[in-house]
Order: sequence, then structure tokens, then C-alpha cells
Amino acid sequence: MTTETARTGAHARVATSLQLSGISYVLSRALLDGIDLELRAGELTAVSGPSGSGKTTLLSIAGGLVEPTTGTATFGDRPMWQGTGDPRPEVAFVLQVYGLVPILSARENVSVALRARGVGPREADERAEAALARFHISDLGDRQVEELSGGQMQRVACARGLVVGAGVLLADEPTSELDEGNRMLVLTELRAEAERGAVVVVATHDPAVVDLCDTHYVLDEGRLVDHVEEVHLTGRSRPVQLPRHAAPAEPAVPAEPEPEVLPEPPHPEHPGLHDEPHHEPLHEPLHEPLHESQHRAADEGPDDTDDTDDVNAAFRRPGP
Ligand SMILES: Nc1ncnc2c1ncn2[C@@H]1O[C@H](COP(=O)(O)OP(=O)(O)O)[C@@H](O)[C@H]1O
Ligand SMILES: [Mg+2]
Repeated sequence: MTTETARTGAHARVATSLQLSGISYVLSRALLDGIDLELRAGELTAVSGPSGSGKTTLLSIAGGLVEPTTGTATFGDRPMWQGTGDPRPEVAFVLQVYGLVPILSARENVSVALRARGVGPREADERAEAALARFHISDLGDRQVEELSGGQMQRVACARGLVVGAGVLLADEPTSELDEGNRMLVLTELRAEAERGAVVVVATHDPAVVDLCDTHYVLDEGRLVDHVEEVHLTGRSRPVQLPRHAAPAEPAVPAEPEPEVLPEPPHPEHPGLHDEPHHEPLHEPLHEPLHESQHRAADEGPDDTDDTDDVNAAFRRPGP
């Protein structure tokens, strides 16, 4: 491996898992509780669950952006949390709110992820071009991101996440704005990342996406719950039966109110990775990667909330 590929993580063949052990994350209440997971290299892992169930928080801890209150996230026996909120170089994100820089071109938004890892400008641009091509948006390379549609921006964000050849790729609802063809394209590319040996985790509301993953975990109110068969019909994903102690102590309760009915705006100082209004103040910042320091406004967010109630109902665990 060259020094550069070692530094950038590009083309790294990793055969290691991302382990989450005893994870909780507590602000004024527990947003995550008792999470034990092995996210395996070479597989596509889906994390689903209702809006507000903790998917984004889980990915933030898994990627080292947020320090868990208890427990550890480790990859290759090293902790993901480095004490600063900066992720390790082998981690890449596709953020739920894209995290693109509006005034840069699509190509620049992708190449900046490589530049931040020390790749020279020419190589970074070439690799950015190739990454855009993977998502069939080569023609958008020179366009400013703020001119693009939501679905186009989402594909740029996917290109940026995949371009670095990360050992750990954490994609937060990466297909929420996409039609079926592009959704399959993104899943195919995520699959390719897994096949070169990466840990690939996809937070999603979409049963069709879940169905294309190998392993599926469901969160409800910050806890892992048993897999619900109704949303796992035909595909490759392997339902995960959790030990009894991991199931919620109480029957599932009705879904939390959808964001549009909540009066509070997103926390002004700590928008973090979240694009939804929150119930309570944040006591710790939810950090972002350095190269993803500018976020789009939350109100340009996904339009996939129309069917959220149905999807949430499908994901929700029936009472005992
Ligand atoms: N910055 C924050 N401050 C306080 N609570 C938050 C913050 N971000 C998220 N939450 C709360 O944490 C819970 C989980 O949120 P999140 O991880 O974004 O869920 P999901 O990604 O599944 O929609 C929600 O109840 C949400 O209201
Ligand atoms: Mg989320």
C-alpha cells in the first residue's frame, strides 16, 4: 500500500468490524440505550426505525463524531471517538442533510473530501469526476451545488462519501430524495463499497433499501428491537433476532409526533447532523467532519416524510 492510500484509506481492504459495545447516549433523556452491535466489513447493514428513534445519533457515535455517554465504538481495536469530534480518516459519511458547500461546484464538493485527506488537486479532481460518473452525474460537475435539485445534491453527497474509499462508510438516509432507478444505483454502489471490504451502514426508512441489505437492525426509542417481519419480505437481508434483554421493556408506544407538528426549531447552535426539530436543548455538540462543515438549510430537506407514518407503522414492533 502506498503512503497515500494508507493515509486516505483508498482501496484499503479491511476485514475488520465496527463494534459498538454498551453504547448509551444521554442528554436530558436517553437517546440511545444498551446498544451492542457488530457492523461487519464486507456487508451492507441497514438501520431502520421511526423518525426520532436514534438512527442519526447511532451513526454519529459509530463514526466518532459524538462521544457516547457509556460504551465504546471500536474499529480495528481502536476507539472511534478521538476526543475531538473529528472522525478517523478511514471513516466517511453521507449525511442526511448532505453537508454540501452551496457555492462550490459538484466536482469541488467531492474533491474537497480527498483534499482534506492530503490528495493533490489533480488526482482529487480526477477521482471526483470518476465518483460523479458512478452516480451518472458527470454532466453536473461544473454546476454550483445550490443550482441542483435535491435528488442531484443527494447523489453528489453519495459521490463525496464514496470517493475516499473509506474503510467505514456511514450513509444516513442516502436515498430519501431519489426515484427508484437512482435508489438502485446508490444501493449498487454501496454494495460495491462493501465488496471491496468496507463496513457499510445505511440508515433508512425505506423497506426496499432494507431488503437489499445483508443485515438489518431496528431502533425504537433509542433501543434495538427485534426485527419486524412485515418489512422484510423477499430480499437478502438477514433478520437479526436480538437476545431477550435487548427488547424494549414495554410495548411499543405510538409514534412520536412528526417534525412538522413540533413547535421547536432545530437547536440554533448545534444543528449537528440532524435535520429535524428537537424536543430539548443539546448539551453536547454533535460534531461534523471537518470537510463537511457547511450544511444546507434543514427546510430543504427530504421530501420522504410523506409516507413516514406508514413506514413507521411497518417498522414498529407489535406489542408482546
Ligand atoms: N441536538 C439535539 N438535542 C436534543 N435532542 C436531540 C438532538 N438531536 C436529536 N435529538 C433527539 O434524539 C432523538 C433521536 O434523534 P435522531 O438520532 O436524529 O433520530 P432519527 O435519525 O432516527 O430520526 C430524537 O428524539 C431527537 O428529538
Ligand atoms: Mg436521522
